[in-house]
Amino acid sequence: MAQAIIELREIGKTFRSADGSARPVLEGVDFSLREGEIVAMLGPSGSGKSTVLRLMAGLIRADQGAVRYRGQPLHGPARGISMVFQSFALFPWLTVQQNVELGLEARGVAREERARRAEDAIALIGLAGFEGALPRELSGGMRQRVGIARALVTEPDVLLMDEAFSALDVLTGERLREDILKLWRSGTMPTKAMLVVSHNIEEAVVMADRVLVFGSDPGRVRFQLAVQLPRPRDPDSVEVRALIDEVYALMTAGAVRAARPGEEPERAYLTDRLPEADVARMDGLLELLVDEPFNGHADLPQLVEESELTDSEMLPVAHALALLRLAQLDRGDLHITPLGRRYAGGEHALRHEIFGQQLLTHVPLAAHIRHSLEQEPSGELSDKPFLRLLSEHLDATEAERVLNTAIEWGRHGEVYEYDYNTGLIHLPEGAEDAEAAE
Ligand SMILES: Nc1ncnc2c1ncn2[C@@H]1O[C@H](COP(=O)(O)OP(=O)(O)OP(=O)(O)O)[C@@H](O)[C@H]1O
Ligand SMILES: [Mg+2]
Repeated sequence: MAQAIIELREIGKTFRSADGSARPVLEGVDFSLREGEIVAMLGPSGSGKSTVLRLMAGLIRADQGAVRYRGQPLHGPARGISMVFQSFALFPWLTVQQNVELGLEARGVAREERARRAEDAIALIGLAGFEGALPRELSGGMRQRVGIARALVTEPDVLLMDEAFSALDVLTGERLREDILKLWRSGTMPTKAMLVVSHNIEEAVVMADRVLVFGSDPGRVRFQLAVQLPRPRDPDSVEVRALIDEVYALMTAGAVRAARPGEEPERAYLTDRLPEADVARMDGLLELLVDEPFNGHADLPQLVEESELTDSEMLPVAHALALLRLAQLDRGDLHITPLGRRYAGGEHALRHEIFGQQLLTHVPLAAHIRHSLEQEPSGELSDKPFLRLLSEHLDATEAERVLNTAIEWGRHGEVYEYDYNTGLIHLPEGAEDAEAAE
């Protein structure tokens, strides 16, 4: 087996929430990046992929475990490791050439050598002739090429790419990805290993020798999958499609999780991350699923194609439908349930009713909010206590996101109403009377 360049051993990382409580973000993360390989990392938003990359780049430290770079413990940014970010992070007042030279300046490389190496890196990534341009004069794809040239100019051993293609439109992203793969195969890059974080399953399968699938709360490697197909890989080939299917299956397995050992079930469920899915998308996907050509059964890659959503937009929607039992996820396929059929075929009133029922039965946070409102004589409560509850387990942005989702779903199910101006959640009109009449 090839030599490990970066090794992560039993890595744990905890962040402090706004209220000072500790929240484990990574736990027992254990893998190596080996000489000659491209590894792709997939996983839900917030599962800690960027945190892993920052640990590998020596930008932050682990609380548990060790990161080794070429056998030595990593104690800070290492010379041989470069990172490319999603946002291009270029200095707008510097030219392409100056932006690329920056990395070398910090390392005390002499002036002429700096200029020569920057020119080489710029040419390598296909931007020759644009040395004097300012970032605003470039397209998004070209700007990201500058970002990559800046990472390559230091001749890194390891290149870490954090969603480097996701801010680009599809074609531009694909072209850049292809160019990097060509450079990689031709051996003109000094880089010995690459780790690529992606939200796109096809991208992962086309690029990588190995795909790591992350899970969240706390983040860890859930699955690894070797991709042994010859290169270049045609995304539409039977072999690539089959692997994409397999990754979908892995990523959707156990999506609606059971309580962990030792976890108090109600409590755990109450603060579970809800999949980030808005109601319009859930409706849209169910309608698509029920109709021709799917007739209630589809594999997720096909559905992605038909729905024109990306993987990262589509997966939470599929998870949400499964959570509410309107559909069932099974090995990367989505099947509509009889209830889902009734929902898809129903008028507004029926949809609200079914959605509300399912919400109260399967989403403890929504049931908790409803129950709390019913305890109040006024039938209304501020969103603050719910946000506080969620913040005990999630960081501030995530807590807010989960509450927003619960609120949006609750409104659709007519389980409660929300006033965006006052931040008050209240029982729907008529709900109190209905209670009293019972
Ligand atoms: N400096 C920090 N302080 C506190 N919490 C943090 C910090 N950095 C990251 N987190 C939290 O750690 C978790 C993992 O974040 P990270 O950015 O690594 O996830 P990710 O998998 O890269 O997500 P995405 O796919 O959205 O980029 C998130 O809940 C995030 O809010
Ligand atoms: Mg990230």
